[in-house]
Amino acid sequence: MKFFIDTANLEQIKEAQDLGVLDGVTTNPSLMAKEGIKGQENILNHYVTICNLVDGDVSAEVIATDFKGIIEEGEKLASLHKQIVVKVPMIKEGIKAIKYFSSKGIKTNCTLVFSPGQALLAAKAGATYVSPFLGRLDDASTDGLELIEKIRIIYDNYGYQTQILAASIRHTMHIVKCAEIGADVATCPLSAITGLLKHPLTDIGLATFLADYKKVNG
Ligand code: G3P
Repeated sequence: MKFFIDTANLEQIKEAQDLGVLDGVTTNPSLMAKEGIKGQENILNHYVTICNLVDGDVSAEVIATDFKGIIEEGEKLASLHKQIVVKVPMIKEGIKAIKYFSSKGIKTNCTLVFSPGQALLAAKAGATYVSPFLGRLDDASTDGLELIEKIRIIYDNYGYQTQILAASIRHTMHIVKCAEIGADVATCPLSAITGLLKHPLTDIGLATFLADYKKVNG
């Protein structure tokens, strides 16, 4: 399973990259705003900076919601850097745009997906990635992991190449469960990635090993 980091924070992206397990980055307008990145030029420059920090795909989301606007914005984003993936919302105009981008060889990430039917449409349109938001479903008392399972079954039934990019991940168990289900990618906050390191028996075991070494070696 690929690990993406879900942030526009450069320090966190660097930290995840340094860990050696990072496969890409996802951003969205809220994450960009959180970092105080505003103005068209600064936003575009920030995407390029992120691309230069990591090796893999970097999702950059369009703001337009009409077909023509999505195409114009998406083509501009895609021309910024070869690692850019155009993130398009799951709306009618978005599906049309994904189909267009797919025919032009531009990678896409269909975002704001909350149902198996939406994921099926994204795959039929030729999306590179589909982003089901599992944490937001959990927040609304609906099983987000069940959605990932259903999408996996549908895509496997027909051999769709669209990659399931589990998004809105809140914690380490989401990552582990997504790996069990067979999600292709998990995009996570840094805390969820580093949370995978933790186990008290590891800490206790290491302390004992070091103490025993010291007893003998001084
Ligand atoms: O980037 C999309 C998604 O991961 C958002 O997550 O935490 O805002 O629900 P969250």
